[in-house]
Amino acid sequence: MTSAHIINEPSLATRINEADRHRAHVRLWLGIVLLVLFALVLVGGATRLTESGLSITQWKPIHGVIPPLSAQEWDEEFALYQKIPQYQQINQGMTVDQFKTIFWWEWAHRLLARTIGLVFALPLAFFWLSGRIEKRLKLPLVGILALGGFQGFIGWWMVSSGLVNRTDVSQYRLATHLVIACLIFASCMWIMRGLSPHAGDAAPTKSSKKWPRSSPSWRLSRFTSVRLWRALMPA
Ligand code: HEM
Repeated sequence: MTSAHIINEPSLATRINEADRHRAHVRLWLGIVLLVLFALVLVGGATRLTESGLSITQWKPIHGVIPPLSAQEWDEEFALYQKIPQYQQINQGMTVDQFKTIFWWEWAHRLLARTIGLVFALPLAFFWLSGRIEKRLKLPLVGILALGGFQGFIGWWMVSSGLVNRTDVSQYRLATHLVIACLIFASCMWIMRGLSPHAGDAAPTKSSKKWPRSSPSWRLSRFTSVRLWRALMPA
């Protein structure tokens, strides 16, 4: 062994340790993103089940963070809701207190959506600039960020479909919203699991396209798709 090899050995070990530590940081970050996403999906579902989705009739990406703070502001917000068909045809006679309940669901959903934007974008910038993100993960992570922004747009596009002529949101736009939510969740999970110490494959690569038919995930996916297909198709 040459002296150059001996000198290089510790630096190689240090580099490997550092790469492992970086992977652990990125994994932890994606784990937190997934937790917030899970909460967001739950609140989104609750927003739908409580029929609260049309309570906020405006799209204010920044100022919308602040809810009505005085009785007068609540009256103004309620007055906007009273103009839409859902109030006029279904919720006539609703009180301001009842309105507040549906408002808070939708507001919490939008607030969590903004929060996830920050929880994703800020650490991404930090990890990127500090060289903690592997080259092959950069594009998938930027893709998820873009998908998140697109989801915000789809959210409003969906809400806008229920403000005129309808008393609920378009089912097609809702389905688009749900599919994108699933895509964001699945991609974060995929990348996080790919970074685990036992995984050899961190990002979608040529080899990760091969999905062995014997694997439990393939079987589960096939079982679910077949069941879903049978449930949706007329007999
Ligand atoms: C990453 C961001 C987001 C995710 C992951 C997400 C996810 C979801 C999910 C899973 C649902 C339940 C869908 C269902 O029951 O089929 C939902 C509902 C809903 N989301 Fe989002 N959402 C996000 C952002 C937004 C934004 C920014 C808005 C508004 C501008 C929005 C507006 C709504 C509304 C109004 C509903 C209820 C629809 C109804 O009235 O039936 N979402 N969301």
